Amino acid sequence: MKKLLTVLVGAALVLGACGGGNEAAPATPAPAETPATDAVAGSFDATAAEATYKQSCAACHGANLQGASAPTLVGTGLTKEEILTILREGQGTMPAGLVRDGAEVEENLAAWIAAQ
Ligand code: HEC
Repeated sequence: MKKLLTVLVGAALVLGACGGGNEAAPATPAPAETPATDAVAGSFDATAAEATYKQSCAACHGANLQGASAPTLVGTGLTKEEILTILREGQGTMPAGLVRDGAEVEENLAAWIAAQ
């Protein structure tokens, strides 16, 4: 009986270690933010776009576009034009007209998100 207990406890420890290992996987670091060009999105100023995003979008979409109360903005498959329409007209519970710094700022942000 004592031997069986030892085996069971040993197995539990091994299983526990495996499960914990999976959960402790490090988060993927955010990609470097440098001015870039994207085939679909066109050119944009990533630094300026990120500043606009932090100010107007991060509260709902998460600091790293990973999603929070609103869905993730990484890999949406949306084009710059489609994102601009969502920004100007709103979508679902997302209000319209969140970017109030002018069309250029809005377009730069849309191009940046389309490239994520
Ligand atoms: C008040 C919270 C809130 C804020 C602030 C907000 N959003 Fe949203 N957003 C949402 C919600 C909720 C949805 C999902 C709407 C739906 O489809 O029902 C959404 C959807 C979207 C989508 C469509 C995603 C998809 O895959 O269909 C885009 C693009 C988007 N938001 C961009 C932005 C940008 C850019 C900003 C900053 C200017 C922003 N959002 C700010 C709440 C927000």
